[in-house]
Amino acid sequence: ASADIGVTGLAVMGSNLARNFARHGFTVALHNRTTAKTDALVEEHGDEGNFIAARTAEEFVAALERPRRLVIMVKAGEATDAVIQEFAPLLESGDVIIDGGNAHFADTRRREKELRERGIHFVGVGISGGEEGALNGPSIMPGGSAESYESLGPLLERIAAKAKDGTPCTTHIGPDGAGHFVKMVHNGIEYADMQLIAEAYHLLREVAGYSPAQIAEIFTTWNTGRLDSYLIEITAQVLAHTDAATGKPFVDVVADQAEQKGTGRWTVQIALDLGVPVSGIAEAVFARSLSGHGGLRAASRDLPGPSVATLGEAEAAAFADRVEQALYASKIVSYTQGFHQIQAGSETYDWDIDLGAVASIWRGGCIIRAAFLDRIRSAYDSRPDLPSLLSDKQFSDEIGAAQDDWRSVVATAVEHGVPTPGFSAALAYYDALRAERLPAALTQGQRDYFGAHTYRRTDREGSFHTLWGGDRSEVSTD
Ligand code: 6PG
Repeated sequence: ASADIGVTGLAVMGSNLARNFARHGFTVALHNRTTAKTDALVEEHGDEGNFIAARTAEEFVAALERPRRLVIMVKAGEATDAVIQEFAPLLESGDVIIDGGNAHFADTRRREKELRERGIHFVGVGISGGEEGALNGPSIMPGGSAESYESLGPLLERIAAKAKDGTPCTTHIGPDGAGHFVKMVHNGIEYADMQLIAEAYHLLREVAGYSPAQIAEIFTTWNTGRLDSYLIEITAQVLAHTDAATGKPFVDVVADQAEQKGTGRWTVQIALDLGVPVSGIAEAVFARSLSGHGGLRAASRDLPGPSVATLGEAEAAAFADRVEQALYASKIVSYTQGFHQIQAGSETYDWDIDLGAVASIWRGGCIIRAAFLDRIRSAYDSRPDLPSLLSDKQFSDEIGAAQDDWRSVVATAVEHGVPTPGFSAALAYYDALRAERLPAALTQGQRDYFGAHTYRRTDREGSFHTLWGGDRSEVSTD
């Protein structure tokens, strides 16, 4: 046995990850259900490092040095369970199974528990950065026992992306499902970021009358400032692209129905269970599903909207600056909500997640990588018990400075009939958090009226009920 690590499941993500390990000097055992993929990888990329091609599960396991480190890169769900069933009986106590798929963290918790009882470490690893990241350096979010990280961490730190200051974009997130949970929230934030960028584009197009090529330039400029991020950068490239067949902007020939594989939806489902208001992420998921309802949209096309003229050239430039403010402010809210969810998950499942470390490993390699994350890292590093990102002085100052423009953009969107659920939800969240009093008091009154659900008072301890159907006197219900 001489392989440092093994990868089973050699579709693009698996192959690229295997090559990344090999390029960093690790000997990598390869396995795939059909051996053709294994052969093709060795044939095409064998010169990049040391590979051991295994034909069977037994050969694969025999090739691995102990404690064995075996990475599963198959489609999340039943395929993962099937592969675990296949390999677990061949492993020994202390060996480590690593699941690099986009698994649901609840599945990871279940698998970790089952394998722990058999003496095997199970590490659920969120990997972000797509195919390119897997090959050249992804952001890696491992969850599992501290002991498993001792054996696996040094390898992951080698292959992970490096932040600008050289820090590897991986860290031990926490026990069992913590890594996959954090990856799930990463994807939720990814959905929100994408939705906010899409809304900015839509406004620049519909309200300001800019062409996709002009908007590409605007995004390129934004990318040199505080919005500097991978998603803004690729947005500019997508918008600048022309369809070869028609000569039209690419974005005008793509069907406007956004798809999703489900991780954004999971984020919202889990947030509902945890009671965390991730309204920006939820709006992003709903915006994708709304776009997909082709029949409903066709049936609604004749609904009346406002008739407002597109802005003139001089106003358009000023409007674009305001959109940048609105986008940045809404982005702060998305991250505030996402980090709140991680904090809540960490408390519920006893994961003890270091939020500053999460921000740190998202600085490079992953889809949401951005200059902004370095600031989130320092906010949490200087105050790990920060109640919310919005309590950080720098972020609250910035959002305060942006708020007038943000409000104006949302108002303009409403006037022009351009849907901005992300911007609007983020602003509503901000205003709700700021509010001295919320109408939730009225909600409590209604609940007490129709269901005797009781309420608490601002001036006295205890719980109370008003005899709504009787003389309307108040009774204490403690
Ligand atoms: C990443 C991405 C990756 C994948 C998404 C796409 O971090 O590298 O998030 O995991 O591209 O799952 O998600 P949708 O198909 O749901 O948009």
